[in-house]
Amino acid sequence: MNPDLNRREFIKASVATGVSAPLFSPALTAQNRATRPLVISSANNHIGADGKFLNGGINCVTRAMEILKAGGDTLDAVIAGVNLVEDDPLDDSVGYGGLPNEDCEVELDSCVMHGPTRRAGSVASLKNIKNPSKVARLVLERTDHIMIVGEGALRFALKHGFKREDLLTESSRKLWLKWREELNPQDNWGPSWHRTTKGKQISQANLSKDELAFNSYAEERLRNRPTGTINCLAVNANGDLSGVTTTSGLAWKIPGRVGDSPLIGCGLYVDNEVGAAGSTGRGEECIYINGGHTIVENMRRGMGPTEAALDAIKRIAARYENNLDELRKFDINFYALNKKGEYGGATLWGLRDDGKRNSFALHDGKEARLIDCAYLYEKK
Ligand code: GLY
Repeated sequence: MNPDLNRREFIKASVATGVSAPLFSPALTAQNRATRPLVISSANNHIGADGKFLNGGINCVTRAMEILKAGGDTLDAVIAGVNLVEDDPLDDSVGYGGLPNEDCEVELDSCVMHGPTRRAGSVASLKNIKNPSKVARLVLERTDHIMIVGEGALRFALKHGFKREDLLTESSRKLWLKWREELNPQDNWGPSWHRTTKGKQISQANLSKDELAFNSYAEERLRNRPTGTINCLAVNANGDLSGVTTTSGLAWKIPGRVGDSPLIGCGLYVDNEVGAAGSTGRGEECIYINGGHTIVENMRRGMGPTEAALDAIKRIAARYENNLDELRKFDINFYALNKKGEYGGATLWGLRDDGKRNSFALHDGKEARLIDCAYLYEKK
């Protein structure tokens, strides 16, 4: 690459010529500083259905660090951290309030791994239980299995005293309806044709502040079909590691579709001798390259966490021969830390669709903050 070409010009040139050479974040080396104890998670920061900004990742790592500082186990810490996001009705990609499948039913996936005991637990397509991460932990602790799915996972949770709950919120139901009505102009969902042609246009001016906030949220969600998730990884002062990933999966998915989040070695992998890695974004891409396991194996062979995570992103891009038109159709992010307490995050696109940088949350025992991910391409 011509060293005189600045980054912005290079991106323009790449797109115009079809050249798809990778770009790297300047934060690449800074991210690899070692510190223990340490917690990282996906950022989970976006505008909610009420128009307010959510800071799920920062809340998650703050809670997890409180537990580590009080001497708690790394698995207790990461699960307590993501439980805040699972319980939050406004995070529409995780737990309660997560966007439903195409039948308007919320199906949740999660897995956990505990480094010191080298054990894992997982649930998929779990309905009516808002904390799938807690059920995944029970699979780890109370069974000789690793993964329980669907109706069996629900019955397992109920037998362990979990409460059956309706996981749809008013806004996730309304958003599903909007999605369904706009899906197919030829079907019978949505206002009938004679009402549309005879009826008056609803003026934006007549809408309340709440309705306007919901409409702008809905518009964004319908444009960029969410695959959000939360992944949280922790290493304590002794170098013991744990991780968790939890999600409602792809919005409006085919019922029974399972992404990377509950799959050990994909949405999460922990090896107490090496490190831990997890994923958010389009799960199918992560599954194709076994993202979590690939990153931990990269670290085992000597890569730092950021480099290891960016290598996984490159493998995904390579499946599409670095064709930017194909890659523009999705987002994928990886998070990694190693036993020493070095950390990193990497993403396909440096800039998100909402114009913010793709970042991850970190708590190093002193403060919680967001760190920009290393990226392969700057902008979709
Ligand atoms: N990464 C979440 C999913 O694709 O289901």
